[in-house]
Amino acid sequence: MCGIIGFAGKSTRLSTLLDSLRKLEYRGSDSAGVAYINSSNQLISAKTVGTTEKLMDLLPDKADAGVTAAIGHSRWATHGEPSKKNAHPHLDCSRNLAVVHNGIIENFEDLRDRLLKRSHVFLSSTDSEVIAHLIEESYNGDLIDAVKRASGELEGAYAIAAVHKDHPGVVVVARKGSPLVIAHDGSRGLASSDVTPIISYTREVIYLEDGDIACLNAEGISILTTSGEPVDRPVSHIDWDEQAAEKSGYDHFMLKEIFEQPQALRNTIAGRIRDSKIVLAELSSIEQHIQKAESVKIVACGTSYHAGLVFKRFLEENAGVSAEIDVASEFRYRKNVCDANSVIVAISQSGETADTLEFLRKNRKNCSASIAVTNTVGSTITREVDTSLFLNAGPEIGVAATKTYTAQLLLLYMLAIRIAQTRGLSEEKAKDHARTLSGIPAIVEKALVSADRETRIIAELFRNTRDFLFIGRGYSYPTALEGALKLKEISYVNASAVQAGELKHGHIALLDESFPVFAVAPSDFTKVKMASNIMEVKSRCAPVVLLTDDNASFEDQLSVIKAPFVSEWLYPIIAAPYLQLFAYHMAVLRELDPDRPRNLAKSVTVE
Ligand code: F6R
Repeated sequence: MCGIIGFAGKSTRLSTLLDSLRKLEYRGSDSAGVAYINSSNQLISAKTVGTTEKLMDLLPDKADAGVTAAIGHSRWATHGEPSKKNAHPHLDCSRNLAVVHNGIIENFEDLRDRLLKRSHVFLSSTDSEVIAHLIEESYNGDLIDAVKRASGELEGAYAIAAVHKDHPGVVVVARKGSPLVIAHDGSRGLASSDVTPIISYTREVIYLEDGDIACLNAEGISILTTSGEPVDRPVSHIDWDEQAAEKSGYDHFMLKEIFEQPQALRNTIAGRIRDSKIVLAELSSIEQHIQKAESVKIVACGTSYHAGLVFKRFLEENAGVSAEIDVASEFRYRKNVCDANSVIVAISQSGETADTLEFLRKNRKNCSASIAVTNTVGSTITREVDTSLFLNAGPEIGVAATKTYTAQLLLLYMLAIRIAQTRGLSEEKAKDHARTLSGIPAIVEKALVSADRETRIIAELFRNTRDFLFIGRGYSYPTALEGALKLKEISYVNASAVQAGELKHGHIALLDESFPVFAVAPSDFTKVKMASNIMEVKSRCAPVVLLTDDNASFEDQLSVIKAPFVSEWLYPIIAAPYLQLFAYHMAVLRELDPDRPRNLAKSVTVE
C-alpha cells in the first residue's frame, strides 16, 4: 500500500514534506521519491530504493529554499520490482510534469500500448507511469482539465497528485477508489493518502469523494466533480493524535488490518476478473505445464499452510488433479516428491520463509513449473519460481497474518479455477465461480460489523480460560486450525485443532467443564456429523462456542455466532475474520499487545 503526499504554496519546505512522507512509511515502503517546482520554475525530481531517509541526501544543497509546490511518494511495489526506475514520481516525455499515484490501474496495459503507438517513451514497469503520459496528452495549458481528462481514461483505483513546471505553487489531485485527504493550514494546501502527516499542521481535513479533482495552492483549495462542477465537501475535525492516526483510529494494527480485508480483497481481485472471466496473465508462460500436470505440490508454513489446505481441496474438486500439501519444514526433507509432471505452488505472504525457500531450491528443477503466491514484490521467493502471483493486500504490520490470509484464499481460488479451466472445467462453471468471488469483498464487509461485537461478547465469557479445542470437518478443518493458531499466538491460550471426526480417538479425554470447544460448523455437508460431535462435547460438560451461518438451525443454548451463508468452499474466507476478531478480543481482554506477540517474528527467515 503506497502513500502519496502533496504540499502547495510558497511556504513549502522539502525537509517538512519529507518528514511528512516518513509518516506514511508504516503503510509499507520499499522506495521513495519527490518532485518539486523550485524558485526558477524548474521541475526537479529525486527517487531512491529504500526509505525516505535517503532522499534528503540526493537533493541539491539549499533545495528547501524557494520551493513552491512538491509531491512525494512512499512505494510498496505491486507492478514492477522495488527499484529506482519504478519508484515515483513518474514524469511525462517532456519532463514538464510529475505524478505520484496510489492504487492499481487495471487497464494500464491497454493504455500503455496506445501511448507507445503515439511515441511516448516509458521508463518503468509500473502501471502508474501511464498517468503522467495521459496527462501530457491532455494538457493544453490547463492542468486541472488535463488531470480530469486523464482520470476519465483510468479503470481501477487511484489517488493522484501532479505538479507542472508551468504551474508554480499548484498541486492538482484526483481520487477514485484509493483514499485521499486534503487540507489547508492557512499558508499551504496539503494532500495525503491519510491524515497522519497532515495533523501536525491542521486538524480540519476534507476526505475527497470518488471522482473528485482538487486544486491546491497558497490561497486555498477548490474541488470539482467528475463532470467539472465546483463542489464543497464537508470538513472533518480530527481529534486523534499522530500515533492513533497511523492506525486510522484503531487501537492496534491487527484490528485495522482485519477491517481492511474488504479493501485488500478488492485489490486482490482488481484487474483479475473481467467480464466474469478470471484473468491471471502471470500464468501464460507455464500454461502448457499446468495443462499436462499430473500432480500439484503445495508447500507453505503456518497460516499460509492453512490457506494451502483449502486450495488443495478446492483444486481436487474442480480440476480433477491430485494435490499434495505438506508444511515446508517437513516437505523439504522428503525424498522423490516432485517429478517432471508436477507443478509446485509455494505460498508465503512474506516471500522470505526459509523452509519454503529451501523446498523450492531443492525441488524446483525436478518439476515442470513453479508458482509463488506472495504479498511481497521483489521478495526472495519470486526469484526461486517460474512465475509469481501477488496478493496486492498492502503491507501487514501486525505479526499475526489476517488480511493476507483471506487474500491468499481468494487468489488461490482464482488459481484453482484457472488450473481447472486448462483441464476441462466448463466456461459457464468458471464464470459462475468468478461471479461468486467478485461478491466476496462485500460479504466480508457486511459481516465485519456484527462480527466485532459478537466475538467480543464471547471473548468476555472465555477471557480466563487456559485451553481451547477447535474442531471442524471438510473445508472447515483448515479454518479450525487457523482459529487455534490465531488464538494461541496472540492470547497465549493453549489452543489446538482437530478434525471433528478424530475427537473420540483420543482428544475427547481432555474435555470437562473447564475445557471449552470452538466448533466451526457451517450448514454444509458436514452439518449432521458436526451436530453429533457437538453433542458428544456437551455430554462431557465442556462449554461450546459455535461458529456457523445464517442457514443453520443448531440448538440455541450454545454460544452461537452466525456468519453469512455462502457455498461450502467459500466459508473459510467468510469465517476467518470471526476467528481473527475472537483471538484479538481475547488478547486485548487479557491485557496483551496483539501487534507484538512474544517470541514471534513477521518473517521467519531462519530454519
Ligand atoms: C500466523 C503467521 C505465521 C505465518 C508463517 C508463514 O499468524 O503469520 O504462521 O503464516 O510464519 O509465513 P509466510 O506466509 O510469510 O511464509
